[in-house]
Amino acid sequence: MRVGIDAVAVAVPESYLELADLARARSVPEAKYLEGLGVQRMSIAGPHEDPVALAANAARRLFATSGAEASRIGLCVVGTETGVDHSKPIAAFLHRLLGLPQRCRVYETKHACFGGTAGVLTAVDWIASGSARGKSALVVCTDIARYELGSAGEPTQGAGGVALLLSESPRLLELEPGASGSFSRDVDDFWRPLHRKEALVDGQLSVQCYLDALAGAYAAFREVAPGAQLSRRCYHVPYGKMARKAHRHVLALEGRSEAEADASFAQEVAPSLRLPAQVGNIYTGSLWLSLASLLEAEAATLEGQRIGLFSYGSGCAAEFFAGTVARGAGAFARSLRLSEPLERRRRLTVTEYEAIRRGDADADARPAESGRYGSVAYLGTRDDKRQYQAAVAR
Ligand code: CAA
Repeated sequence: MRVGIDAVAVAVPESYLELADLARARSVPEAKYLEGLGVQRMSIAGPHEDPVALAANAARRLFATSGAEASRIGLCVVGTETGVDHSKPIAAFLHRLLGLPQRCRVYETKHACFGGTAGVLTAVDWIASGSARGKSALVVCTDIARYELGSAGEPTQGAGGVALLLSESPRLLELEPGASGSFSRDVDDFWRPLHRKEALVDGQLSVQCYLDALAGAYAAFREVAPGAQLSRRCYHVPYGKMARKAHRHVLALEGRSEAEADASFAQEVAPSLRLPAQVGNIYTGSLWLSLASLLEAEAATLEGQRIGLFSYGSGCAAEFFAGTVARGAGAFARSLRLSEPLERRRRLTVTEYEAIRRGDADADARPAESGRYGSVAYLGTRDDKRQYQAAVAR
């Protein structure tokens, strides 16, 4: 049986911050952010754009652009590390906002940035095992990445949702159940205690843990898929430079030099970094935003070719696996207009961005307001229950 990614869609907040503006405000050379980290803009979520709203808007766009029907979904998994409730999963909010059927398994997964990939791999196994009985799976990755203002992590923030439809007739990327290498261990590289909105991170350790996990997962992948030729590689992208470091590392494991890795980077990796450089780190959705970026740029030329995928979640868990670009993916990916949501964004000043961040502290207890938003929006709480407005046609 074939199984894999049938469609994908991206949702981003309405606003973004130019990293050059942030660099000036923090008295840091612009080149450190733009070249040193490889980031240009980061999406900033406003008060009505919480992780539920971002997830719902990504999934609504997925249905609208791919022609998929909510009534055919039998499994809905949301991967997030910025959940909105200790008990109620974002998937339960989506169930109503998307009109999913009652005969549908819905839940949330967490393992830092790996949570979305865990959902995808589970969905692949669910379909491959026959449990899906012809139904499709919806996996939505949604996060708002926040570090302390003025910290080293600040330029590596971002926000967004990526919705993925998985089915037994994948129009984009065929995945191979079981042909995957995993790696896990207990490390304190990045974490977010229950009382905090902003993540804590040991930055340099987190880079090393990422590379160690990549080496472990890649070695495990090579044991199960020794001869697999990879024509492109998509990595988890906390910032663009990390993907360059990852590529050097993985090619070194293949016995290739740093110069060879750098020479192949423009062809094998750079096309997957265009959207992440405009959105920033979206944690669980990061790898899938890279894939969307690659498919938008090159799906037509990659049909029939295998690409490598690497997901890393701090703490840590990682997986290296591969997929083959489906026949017809080029035309279909074009029809999905993957980067269109980025075209309508508003540039924030640093002062506006800092005001939004101050408001985040009260967001989970703010009394619900009424509103008329063109997309699904978080309105605040009533009796400690989160309230959402479904999209209003404009
Ligand atoms: N011009 C050009 N480049 C410059 C420069 C300048 N003026 N000044 C510095 N640079 C370069 C540095 O040489 C460095 O490049 P290399 O890594 O190639 O050496 C790069 O800019 C960054 O400089 P620093 O290492 O000094 O940066 P920093 O210590 O201030 O912070 C960071 C970097 C640790 C990644 C920090 O942004 C951070 O903590 N980010 C959050 C954690 C993170 O993203 N970790 C990634 C792995 S963990 C993961 O992937 C999970 C996840 O999503 C969080």
